Amino acid sequence: MKILVTGGAGYIGSHTVLELLASGYDVFVLDNLSNASPKVMERLEELSGQTVRFAEGDIRDKELLDQLFADEHFDAVIHFAGLKAVGESVQKPLEYYENNVGGTLTLLQSMRDHGCKNMIFSSSATVYGDPAEIPITENCPKGQCTNPYGWTKSMLEQIMMDLQKADPDWNVILLRYFNPIGAHKSGRIGENPNGIPNNLMPYITQVAVGRLPQLSVFGNDYDTPDGTGVRDYIHVVDLARGHVCAVRKLNENCGLKVYNLGTGEGYSVLDVVNNFKEANGIDIPYVIKPRRAGDIATCYCDPSLAKTEMGWEAEYGIRDMCADSWNWQKNNPNGYETGDTE
Ligand code: NAD
Ligand code: UD1
Repeated sequence: MKILVTGGAGYIGSHTVLELLASGYDVFVLDNLSNASPKVMERLEELSGQTVRFAEGDIRDKELLDQLFADEHFDAVIHFAGLKAVGESVQKPLEYYENNVGGTLTLLQSMRDHGCKNMIFSSSATVYGDPAEIPITENCPKGQCTNPYGWTKSMLEQIMMDLQKADPDWNVILLRYFNPIGAHKSGRIGENPNGIPNNLMPYITQVAVGRLPQLSVFGNDYDTPDGTGVRDYIHVVDLARGHVCAVRKLNENCGLKVYNLGTGEGYSVLDVVNNFKEANGIDIPYVIKPRRAGDIATCYCDPSLAKTEMGWEAEYGIRDMCADSWNWQKNNPNGYETGDTE
């Protein structure tokens, strides 16, 4: 089975490419490298022992897409490509809508034009807004997003639902990721944020490696056990395995499916700091700061539907996630810019 992986040089995409190759799929990566290093492709080849086919290009480029679909006859697309920085999306809404919504429309048109009607899409827990129920099941109504990034995910879900309804030949799986952290066990691929990280784990690892002085904990007055925000952190390798299960599900002609991908466990910011210390023996100095705009108190899922219908469940716990995030950061203190001795 031949799979086009858009955004396959990025954080989640790169881990998924490895799992797909290990399961014997024929993979082709399309990425414009706007948020990824070309070194990722070398490392994927090193880790997999296989040639990984790659085109540097944009999902908004219809001509390029048409050429690729005509030449390669993909059976399915796993669509990671998109911009994902929440704060930046507030500053640059048009760029986010254009890249994420416009780019996906172009991709879907090219897929339709070439009869490739199997799609796995990277959605997010952000579509639930401030969730109506905890743990969050897939039946929980979608909510108000607090930023354009979140709206692009919510809108794209709607667009793909409408498409699948209009033409039931489509199989569409919307995967709502909770909070991916961790890295491949090898420490050769991992998350490589540009500039100062917005998300908790890359911030913690950059404090641990000495690039940042201390963690700011955004609020300790939430209605949670210790007052800090609670999230459902999931190991990126577990998440990647979820995509392999989703590919198998596509092959059952599944129609439209929506799955939460999380562990079902909630950890507070201070729980993560403590687990990082237990796993790695490193204290993370922190200060309590005001709440961050748009944050919610608690977000964790009920992942049982993915288990029942796809046979998928997370295997790694929070300690593994902390250990593997640190293993990546300490071996690559400046991301893909260092770490190669060859
Ligand atoms: P990432 O930025 O590491 O990967 C996205 C990749 O897409 C990058 O390599 C980037 O260069 C590429 N890209 C962006 N726009 C493109 C375009 N127009 N054409 C071709 N390539 C393009 O992000 P990630 O963390 O791996 O996230 C992957 C997907 O999962 C994204 O859609 C993201 O919104 C979604 N998601 C991520 C998280 C998270 O916490 N990381 C949570 C929920 C959903
Ligand atoms: C954020 C995004 C969400 C996106 C997700 C994954 C917002 C409002 N939401 O979710 O849309 O899908 O990332 O990319 O940005 N925290 C600190 N100090 C820090 C960083 C984070 O205390 O320096 C806290 C946060 O307040 C939160 C928790 O850590 O309680 C997790 O934060 P983060 O990793 O940014 O993820 P989310 O806010 O869940």
